[in-house]
Amino acid sequence: MTPSGPVGFTCQAFSALSLSPPQVLLCPGRASTTWPAIRSAGSFCVNVLAEDQAPLSDRFARAGGGRFEGVEWTCSAGGLPVLHGVAAWIECGLRSEFPGGDHTIVRGDVRRLGATPGSRPLLYFRGQYTRIAEPTADPDDPDM
Ligand SMILES: Cc1cc2nc3c(=O)[nH]c(=O)nc-3n(C[C@H](O)[C@H](O)[C@H](O)COP(=O)(O)O)c2cc1C
Repeated sequence: MTPSGPVGFTCQAFSALSLSPPQVLLCPGRASTTWPAIRSAGSFCVNVLAEDQAPLSDRFARAGGGRFEGVEWTCSAGGLPVLHGVAAWIECGLRSEFPGGDHTIVRGDVRRLGATPGSRPLLYFRGQYTRIAEPTADPDDPDM
């Protein structure tokens, strides 16, 4: 969240990092025009898109502004943008940055998080959006 409103970009390079303390990592490209604004803000919210949100992924990957125009979102308790309908959101404080080739490795401290029960994440594989396959029923598995 910047003084002039929310900013964001599509970022697949995201991972859990540490459980105690809870930390995540993400990798913005060095050419990213949005990352410097997030760096200045000192905090960010990772929105894990749900499997029906591919258009949002495309929208936030397109060059230029106006990514939030017409997009439904609310503020988290920490004042960060949470997109409507996401599978999960993770509010983070910026902890540190490391060089990572033509990307930057960003470490964030998790402050708050939430998830939509039953929601599944959007995946990107071999240049295409896809989704997690439904588990195949196994008659020998008591959990299925
Ligand atoms: C599915 C998908 C995954 C992406 N993952 C990343 C990523 O991990 N890191 C990154 O810097 N850009 C990633 N991008 C590209 C950025 O979203 C895109 O370059 C965007 O225009 C950057 O905007 P910015 O210049 O405002 O930062 C991804 C794009 C798509 C469609």
